Amino acid sequence: MQIIHSASELQKVVSAQREAGANIAFVPTMGALHDGHLSLVEIARDRADFVIVSIFVNPLQFGANEDFDKYPRTLQSDAELLAANGVDVLFAPTVDNVYPNGQVITHHAGAVGETFEGAARPGHFDGMLTVVARLFDIVKPDFAVFGAKDAQQLFLIHQMVAQSNHRWNALQIIEGATIREADGLARSSRNRYLSEAEHQAALTLSAALRAAESATGNASSRIQAAAQLLAAQPQVRLDYVALVDPSSFEAVDDSFSGRALLLIAAKVGNTRLIDNLSITI
Ligand code: PAF
Repeated sequence: MQIIHSASELQKVVSAQREAGANIAFVPTMGALHDGHLSLVEIARDRADFVIVSIFVNPLQFGANEDFDKYPRTLQSDAELLAANGVDVLFAPTVDNVYPNGQVITHHAGAVGETFEGAARPGHFDGMLTVVARLFDIVKPDFAVFGAKDAQQLFLIHQMVAQSNHRWNALQIIEGATIREADGLARSSRNRYLSEAEHQAALTLSAALRAAESATGNASSRIQAAAQLLAAQPQVRLDYVALVDPSSFEAVDDSFSGRALLLIAAKVGNTRLIDNLSITI
């Protein structure tokens, strides 16, 4: 596996691969890799001849009071994991390389970017889309793979690509299923912040999703089933539990039937966690 730090060097490697007829899959990450990321790498390997993974902790998507400085940076062990999992290139650029013209927001998430995670983290999705667009410009992949756990992120990336007027040619966005621990906790780089007691408390998120799935009735009763379980766990400070229409990412009302996404965001200790499940109402 090659480790490349500069955009121009990466572009040379990509051009050579294209000339040789290879197609390219890309998995953007912020590092601190876990099995969830490796499942995305596996999807990428199945789809394409050449797999590029980026590791870049993007300052533009962190708010002033968020964990940018303490976000785990584990490049050495991440590189070993990626090499052992068949990745061809690890792209680990510097901030200057990603943002040669300064850290300027170039993409806006619009109305959906201001709800749910966007309401809790103002500007987060503008920063996220800005870096994803920049990485797509550099890598020009045929496929890009993102995890379903970040459902709103995935929705907004689909929307950006659909509205981009083929800026990235025939780029296909592929969704990788959420990977969970054996006890149900969705894998996240931030799980490493949880103490054992907090980890136990955090299991309420996935339990609440399952409770809503097996409850009967309309949207309100599903939300109530989840909210009741969450309220019973004092270590979980709920931000929101909501049901959204996956085609618009807008909250559904009680007349809705079909597949909906149940979203939960909560703080456990100082760690903000999100999870979701697709359920049929
Ligand atoms: O999901 C993430 O890890 C990040 O938001 C992403 C897509 C790599 C952009 O920085």
